[in-house]
Amino acid sequence: MRKNIVAGNWKMNTTLQEGVALAKEVNEALKGATPKCDVIICVPFTHLASINAEIDQNKLGLGAENCADHKSGAYTGEVSASMVASTGATYVILGHSERRQYYGETSETLREKLALAFENNLTPIFCIGEVLEERENETHFEVVKKQIEEALFNLSAEEFGKVILAYEPVWAIGTGKTATDDQAQEMHAFIRSVIAEKYGKEVADNTSILYGGSCKPSNAAALFAKPDVDGGLIGGASLDCASFMGIVNAF
Ligand code: PGA
Repeated sequence: MRKNIVAGNWKMNTTLQEGVALAKEVNEALKGATPKCDVIICVPFTHLASINAEIDQNKLGLGAENCADHKSGAYTGEVSASMVASTGATYVILGHSERRQYYGETSETLREKLALAFENNLTPIFCIGEVLEERENETHFEVVKKQIEEALFNLSAEEFGKVILAYEPVWAIGTGKTATDDQAQEMHAFIRSVIAEKYGKEVADNTSILYGGSCKPSNAAALFAKPDVDGGLIGGASLDCASFMGIVNAF
């Protein structure tokens, strides 16, 4: 069956020293604990190797927030999937709305990134979600379906089975405006039906679909109680150990 997962997305926050301290705190909080979900932190590239040396990855998974769409070569400033893997990280967030919005990522570049992630044994946490205007003009189902079809439906069933999906309505990210648990459930069930149509019910039932967007300890339990919500991708609230653990313990 599919896993419950709570993953932190630190975004462009924390210095190396602050990040290592936060990761150690989360690692410490998980020692001796038996959370009902897998726990992952996705951190800036510069922090990966140092954090890897400090945490027990059996308890706390480690991931990057992005990777390049090329293998290697003359791409100044980029960080490849193999570089990420060489730090000890095993996850990578791909297609986050901030990457799509501010850095022009398209389904085409994301297909390249996904292929490179798989080549380097990184598990993708793949983000999808509509902007406010699309929600308001009721094209949100269409938009999300298209994002999935364009970037993911060229994958084999085996590859698709390794993807963790994160539904993040853009209007809920960092705004304090969470989707209601019913809105999340409605979209997650729809996403699962789209997957089932393409890969069959078994693959769909085994896919973890996380919710992201202003998830916090006070609303996590209600969201996670929904049958198709398998956890969360947590931005702001993952930058504080107590609030992140509050979400982990919401299961
Ligand atoms: P937020 O971000 O929890 O700060 O809204 C979520 C995300 O963008 O992954």
